[in-house]
Amino acid sequence: MKRAIYPGSFDPVTFGHLDIIRRSAGLCDHLIVAVLNNNNKTPLFSVDERVEMLKEATKDLANVEVASFSGLLVDFAKKNDVGVIIRGLRAVTDYEYELAMSQTNRVANPNIDTIFLNTSLEYAYLSSSIVREMAMYGGDITKFVPNCVVDKVYKKFKK
Ligand code: COA
Repeated sequence: MKRAIYPGSFDPVTFGHLDIIRRSAGLCDHLIVAVLNNNNKTPLFSVDERVEMLKEATKDLANVEVASFSGLLVDFAKKNDVGVIIRGLRAVTDYEYELAMSQTNRVANPNIDTIFLNTSLEYAYLSSSIVREMAMYGGDITKFVPNCVVDKVYKKFKK
C-alpha cells in the first residue's frame, strides 16, 4: 500500500482513532487522516480545531498528514492520488453502515478500495460522542483522549 486515507469526523480524536492511525501508518507509505467538513452534523469543534488536535496527536508519525475535505470522499481520494480508504470496525454493529459506504464508494470509483481494521479491544466501546457526554457532565476523559485534547474538550463545555 502506497498512499491511504483514514477519513472521519474526529470530533474529537480519541485513543480509538489513534490506534487505527498508528497501525495504518505502519501498513502504508503515506497516510492522510482526512477530517470531514460535514454539513449534516453540528460539531463541537470546528474543522480547523479538529485538524490541529490531530496534527498534535500524530506529530511523532512521520508518514502521517492531516487534511480536511468536504464533498465526496472518493473525489478527495482521487485528487490526492489515493487508492485505499481505511476504516476501523469496533463491533459488528459498525459493519452494516461501513459495508454500505464502501460499496457505494466502489460504485462511484472502482479504483478505490476500502480496507477494514478491527479497533483494538480496549477501545471497542469508545466513540467521540461518549467523550463529549462524559466531559459535559464533568467526567474523567483522560482514558479516552490524548493529553493535548483533554483541556480543549473541557473548555468547550465551560463556555
Ligand atoms: N475509535 C473510536 N471511535 C470511533 C472509531 C474508532 N476506531 N471508529 C469510529 N468511531 C466513532 C467516531 O468517534 C464517531 O463517533 P460519534 O458518532 O460518536 O461522533 C462515529 O464512530 C462515526 O465515525 P466517523 O469515522 O467519524 O464516521 P462518520 O460516519 O462521521 O464519517 C466518513 C464517515 C467521513 C467516512 C463518511 O461520512 C464520508 O466519507 N463522508 C463524505 C461524503 C461521502 O463521500 N459520502 C458517500 C459515502 S456513502
